[in-house]
Amino acid sequence: MPAPVVARTRAELDAALRGARHDGSTVALVPTMGALHDGHAALVRQARDLGDVAVVSIFVNPTQFGPGEDLEAYPRTPDADLALCEREDVDVVFMPSVEEMYPGGVESSVMVDPGPLGTILEGAARPTHFRGVLTVVAKLFAVVRPDVAVFGEKDFQQLALIRRMVRDLGLDVRIEGHHIVREDDGLALSSRNTYLSAEEHQQALALSRALQAGAAEGAVGPVAVLKTAWDVLGDAPGVQPDYLVLTDAYLGDVPPDFTGEARLVVAAKVGTTRLLDNLPVSLTPPPEGR
Ligand code: PAF
Repeated sequence: MPAPVVARTRAELDAALRGARHDGSTVALVPTMGALHDGHAALVRQARDLGDVAVVSIFVNPTQFGPGEDLEAYPRTPDADLALCEREDVDVVFMPSVEEMYPGGVESSVMVDPGPLGTILEGAARPTHFRGVLTVVAKLFAVVRPDVAVFGEKDFQQLALIRRMVRDLGLDVRIEGHHIVREDDGLALSSRNTYLSAEEHQQALALSRALQAGAAEGAVGPVAVLKTAWDVLGDAPGVQPDYLVLTDAYLGDVPPDFTGEARLVVAAKVGTTRLLDNLPVSLTPPPEGR
């Protein structure tokens, strides 16, 4: 595979994409914060299928980290990231500096307000997080001008908010989600998994076990789904649950008589690492008489 073109500035990115823009090739973007793993590789493969030109952005975005969060410690592995991009046949890697993305300074930047959806679940624990995420994603859309952008479903609320932003601000980009990629033992892949000790990794498996146990009760109903999932998570050693909720596709509440497709969404701390996971749940009662 030829090595991807690495663009560090907007001007270099424009030069790298000039040909594609001129001949009408479609551009597919995978926004990332680096520390790329097999989950990102799957997003890149989906992007390759969806567009003629695949762009990966690698930028650890300071505005989505709150005070005391892991901005400084966040894993940065640029050489390994570029090697993965080369293996996955990425055309262009955009690796801007903070100054390039926030030319007027981080503190004084215009920011995107995520609205009420940004204040629940992750937003309740991390009040400025989605403001930072939506701002940087909007900036990336402005500079890359992709036809389609691919995001992982592990950050389910993030994906829902990005879809809302695109709809509410009338942005001209298609958003595609990719199902969660897991280790063989069920742990959802995340760049933050590198923080887990071997013991914490074992403890973290309670998240996916709780989701699977809950989802298996889908035919019984929402109350049984949540109770079963909580039975697993609540007793799990080393796990401090933050929330475990059942939502609809737009993060709306699921009433006890809800039928259809829902999501079981969890966040918990294992050691000092905050982990997220979710699973689709089919709340479909069995046919009458069975
Ligand atoms: O999901 C991520 O890695 C980040 O939140 C994103 C979407 C790249 C924005 O910084």
